[in-house]
Amino acid sequence: MKIHHVGYLVKTLSKASEAFEDLGFEAMDEVIFDEIRGVDILFMKKDGYVIELVSPKHEDAVVYNLMKKLGNTPYHFCYEVDDIVKTSKDLSEKGYVIIDKPTCAVAIEGRNVIFLMHPFMGMIELLEK
Ligand code: NI
Repeated sequence: MKIHHVGYLVKTLSKASEAFEDLGFEAMDEVIFDEIRGVDILFMKKDGYVIELVSPKHEDAVVYNLMKKLGNTPYHFCYEVDDIVKTSKDLSEKGYVIIDKPTCAVAIEGRNVIFLMHPFMGMIELLEK
């Protein structure tokens, strides 16, 4: 599995992207609204590192409560794998808990992603190749 991006929770996406630009990050695309998750998403990159800025748009957004609890913060690494169902099964035998079913990610070419939680390292995302 290869690291694809690091997800950042941000309260105000336009301000956050400006702050990342000040560090030398460049937007890879336009801001995309993910209706399924109720979030705005912007991918940026620098030195081969890709970050995903995720900003909840309303109280029903999947990460709304997380945002309230944690504030602006990195919150997941995403790993690219051949088969997210198989890999999530393998990881669930190692203590990872699958926290939602595979869903398409409109901001990543509609590819399928799944989120898992580990009691000792937090959240990861798997992205299907
Ligand atoms: Ni992500």
